Amino acid sequence: MSVLKSKAVILRGVGEYGVEEVTVDPPKAGEVRVKMAATGVCGSDLSAINANLAVIYPLVLGHEGAGVVESVGEGVTHLEPGDHVALSFVPFCGTCYVCEHQQPNLCRVGRSAPGTMLDGTIRIHKGDEDIFTLVQLGAMAEYIVAPVASVVKVDKAVPLDRAALVGCAIMTGVGAAINTAEVKPGSTVVVFGCGGVGLSIIQGAKIAGASKIIGVDLAENKLELAEKFGATDVINPEGKNIVKEIRKMTKGVGADYGFEAIGNSVVMGQAYNATREGGVFTAVGLGKPGTNLEINAYSLPLSGRTIKGSMYGSGNPPRDFPMLLDLYQVGKLNLDDMVTQRYSIDQVVDAFDDLKANANARGVIVFDEALK
Ligand code: CU
Repeated sequence: MSVLKSKAVILRGVGEYGVEEVTVDPPKAGEVRVKMAATGVCGSDLSAINANLAVIYPLVLGHEGAGVVESVGEGVTHLEPGDHVALSFVPFCGTCYVCEHQQPNLCRVGRSAPGTMLDGTIRIHKGDEDIFTLVQLGAMAEYIVAPVASVVKVDKAVPLDRAALVGCAIMTGVGAAINTAEVKPGSTVVVFGCGGVGLSIIQGAKIAGASKIIGVDLAENKLELAEKFGATDVINPEGKNIVKEIRKMTKGVGADYGFEAIGNSVVMGQAYNATREGGVFTAVGLGKPGTNLEINAYSLPLSGRTIKGSMYGSGNPPRDFPMLLDLYQVGKLNLDDMVTQRYSIDQVVDAFDDLKANANARGVIVFDEALK
């Protein structure tokens, strides 16, 4: 196996990123080298660019992707060159306390090796310079090396730009509804924030059989998208007492399930208060480090609400990615309309500008001509 040349989107400092030419080493034991086909442009990449996530430089961005296995390292027996794969941004060890408790989404093996492979070494270089990768992926590149625990084989019938989305937005959102909150048929749901993740929560609630799904967002185009993906009602909170409005829309009681998909502590409080007594509030958006969620200490026991945090949709990627793509193939999960814009890697600045402007359900960088 040889060293390959690859274009990659590299972050070199706060707000400083662009396409550079790098080399990609062959995979070591327990690793897979993937020729990328498509990588989603996610708010978490933007958080890395803005240093709202802790990152080290220089760093290849990207964590929501799919592609084709190019080669495998020693000991990788269940994947072979040519397999189609989607990437998980949480590799799991399978043997730690949370893995033993069927919560691989919380495994810290990846977080304990920030920027490197799990063995602490690096596969991406530019001349003598080592380049770190975001969450063991660095998926905004033509070629990547990932731990086998981050790579899930998917059905070749699914177009890879759609398969890419299960790796972050879809797993996070649909999983929050069906795995974390366990939305019940006939229930009422309110989703604050209708970006890629919020829209996926709406889709998950619909799959789970919710009878009323309310989408809340300040951007009118996001509310239109919310309706397209299954919201039965939408509301712009601008200038309104949104908690009161949600109560009015839910027979005066509040929603059975409330979700926050922005990461804003004030909005989390609203979503909690818009959830009915005895209902379940699920926090999905990642708040800024150092901010706190304020919940009335009197109301929590008295209202009997449950508060849940949802990391990666409480997902188990090898179990859930194929399940989500099965739902896509039978027409129950809409991934086709999620991809609203495709970019080449050289258009990455446009892609992030569009993300900042809320222009897309999901923008995707495509490397494969056939997907453009
Ligand atoms: Cu993401």
